[in-house]
Order: sequence, then structure tokens, then C-alpha cells
Amino acid sequence: MAQKRVVIKRAGQLLTLAGASKAPKRKEEMNELGLIENGAVAIEGGRILAVGTQADVEGVLDQQWGSQWHTDEEIEQIDADGRLVMPGLVDPHTHLVFGGTREYELEMRLNGAKYLDILAAGGGILASTRMTRAASEEDLIEQSTKRLDQFLKHGVTTVEAKSGYGLTLEDELKQLRVAKRLGEQHPVDVISTFMGAHAIPPEYKGRSNDYVDLVIEEMLPIVAGENLASFCDVFCEEGVFTIEQSERILEAGKKVGLTPKVHADEIVALGGAELAARVGAISADHLLRSSDEGIVAMAEAGVIAVLLPGTAFFLMAEYARARDMIEAGVPVALSTDRNPGSSPTESLWTIMNLACLNMRMTPAEVITAATINAAHAIGKAEEVGSLEVGKKADLLMMDAPNYPYLQYNFGVNLVDTVVKNGQVFIRGGQRV
Ligand code: NIG
Ligand code: FE
Repeated sequence: MAQKRVVIKRAGQLLTLAGASKAPKRKEEMNELGLIENGAVAIEGGRILAVGTQADVEGVLDQQWGSQWHTDEEIEQIDADGRLVMPGLVDPHTHLVFGGTREYELEMRLNGAKYLDILAAGGGILASTRMTRAASEEDLIEQSTKRLDQFLKHGVTTVEAKSGYGLTLEDELKQLRVAKRLGEQHPVDVISTFMGAHAIPPEYKGRSNDYVDLVIEEMLPIVAGENLASFCDVFCEEGVFTIEQSERILEAGKKVGLTPKVHADEIVALGGAELAARVGAISADHLLRSSDEGIVAMAEAGVIAVLLPGTAFFLMAEYARARDMIEAGVPVALSTDRNPGSSPTESLWTIMNLACLNMRMTPAEVITAATINAAHAIGKAEEVGSLEVGKKADLLMMDAPNYPYLQYNFGVNLVDTVVKNGQVFIRGGQRV
């Protein structure tokens, strides 16, 4: 199937996001979408064969496929009919695999309970940990597949997925194995992150350093040895893991080949952005409370800011200072943070909308942030995040005449067609 030839023609606006596979877009570059009017894309073997104006692509195909290609019934010809075509979205920060849900906490928070207080009382992440530990691999596959199906319907073709609801060696491995299986059996690509340091499990209450030792000495070597993750992440937060503990874990992760990521300055300004710069993290995520110094340190070290405005919205908190970060030269990416507590959504479009209206990112910047910059945040920018010859044919046809419309017609899913690895999985908004 993936070997099939496909042509998408008559795109009103074709957003290629080309030219940034080597380094993420910063500052004014984030507004450059590589826009081509009246564009086309040709696909062969699951990869992009040609991309450009309709005339240019037709010229390439006449040469490569012969002049009869227009009428060849073996070639799938998709008429965009003036709709917008763009790369599949990349979600660089999710907690995809977990058991159960926590809708009751929303009511508690609306009645005044604080997110970290719910966690300290054994709820929050620890409630999800109990449900995840109790779930079998098959249960987790079933529950997480539904979430991946939603991602796909919303045009997300690659996701990062963190462990961190197991908090024992066996249960962390269970989550990571599920993520790996999902990546193999579902159209959406899944890139794994080990996050054993997501919370201090009840067995280690009051002995957090012992738990950090367990993460470093037992979990990290096995996770890396079994090749179950590419990244190592830590919830560096007041009452969770301190700066010192986080640094120890991230440095130990580096030694076994896992690239650092940090849940930084989400609720309290602990200096997570500075930590990310110091350890050479590929990204620092959340950053609602980051200091000016932290932002400058990230810009200098080239750390990508993965902003998650869904959590600010859902926790009724202040938003991250996206404008200050972009002006300081920090490359910004966006993500759902899909998780059961602080951001239970698969709609990266909702996140882009929040980023646009509540963090004042432009309609162009949010697209860059959810495609090529997001791909950089998970080390996949050579493969996905833009439409360029040789890259994976992951692309969307949107029910929109132009890109600002994507932020304007809010609250609905404008995805018409999703192509993943050259195969159509969503057509007319429905799974095929
Ligand atoms: O990214 N902040 C820590 N972890 C998640 C929330 C996890 C949860 O509440 O289950 C986050 O917001
Ligand atoms: Fe998160």
C-alpha cells in the first residue's frame, strides 16, 4: 500500500515549511511558511517525490512517470479544489499511555482545590498511577489507541509519548512497551520518552532521594538497554523533583544515551529553564513561570521551548510568555501535553488557537510551532514536519481557503484528509 503513487493537485495554499530541517525556526523565520499558491505534491513509496507549483510538479511527473500519468488509474489523484495543504502536525509532548480518567478533579479544582495539593494528597498523577498499575498491557493498548485515533482525526501524524504513570521498574517498562507497540501497529508514529521521575510514588513518600536512586540505578539502564526510549524527562517542580535531583537524573540519562527534556517552571519558578540550558536539553516544556534569565539561557543554548497552553487553560493559570521567548530568539514549539490531569485533549488545533489568542502568537507562528519546530523538539526534523523531497509523505488537506482561516474558524475540526506515509487514512474527516 505504502508503495502507491499519489498526487495531490490544486492546493489553494500549499504550506511547505521548507528549509528548516537542519535547525528550528527562530524569531521572524517562524512567520515563513514556504507558501506556494496553486500547489501540488507527488508521493511515491511513502515519501515526497515532488512538491511545488502545480506546473512544476507536473513537469517532474511527466519526466519520472511518463506523460500518461494523468489518466493512470493506478495513481491516486486527489483534487484539493482550492483547499489548503500542509504537513501533518507533530505533537512533541504527550502522556499518551495511562489507565483511567480524572474528570472528578476538574470539579475539585473548580471548587478551589489546587493541582499540586491534589497530588500531595495522593490524587492527580498518583491517581493515574494506581489506575495504570492496575491495567494490563492490553487495557492500555485499547485506551491509548482511542487517543491515537483522535490525534489522527485531528491531523497529528507523529507524537512523542512519555512514561511516568508506572513509577516502578515493571510498570514503567509496561508503559514504554505499550508505546512501542502502538507505534508499530497504529498509523501515527510514536516516539518514546522515559519519565520515571514524574512523581514520587507512595512507597517512597518522604524518601525522594531513594526514589531518584532507583530511577538512576535500576530504571535508566534497563530502559536504555532495551531501547525503549530516546529521551529522558523529569517533572522538576516544587514538591516533586528538585533542581538538584532533576539534574542528577538527566545527567545519568545522558550517560546511557537518552537526550534530556524537562517539565520546567510549570507551576513554580524553580529555575527549570536554566537547568534545561545547563544540561543541554533538546527542549524545556511548559515554562509558564520562567524567568528572564532562564529565557536568555535557553536562547543561548538553543533549547526549544515546547509550550503547552492547554494546561494554562485547563488549570486556569497564566500563560507562558511566548512573545518574549520568540523575541529573545528561543525556537518555540507547541503541544497538547495530552494527559489525564492538566490537559485532556487531542486537539492540537485548540492548542494553536489558545497560543494565538492568549499568547499572541501569529497564525503563521503557531503552524511553524506545531510542525517543523515540533519535529526538532523530538529530533525528527529530517523525517517529518515539512513537505520536502525525500521526507515522509505526512500531510493534511484542510477545509480552509488560507492559513489564517485555521485560527479564525475555531472550535471545529477542519481536517478533511490525512495522508500518513503516503497512505490516506482520513478522508472527508472520517477514517477510511
Ligand atoms: O505535563 N506536569 C506534570 N505532568 C503532566 C500532568 C500529568 C497529570 O496531571 O496526570 C503535565 O502537566
Ligand atoms: Fe507533560
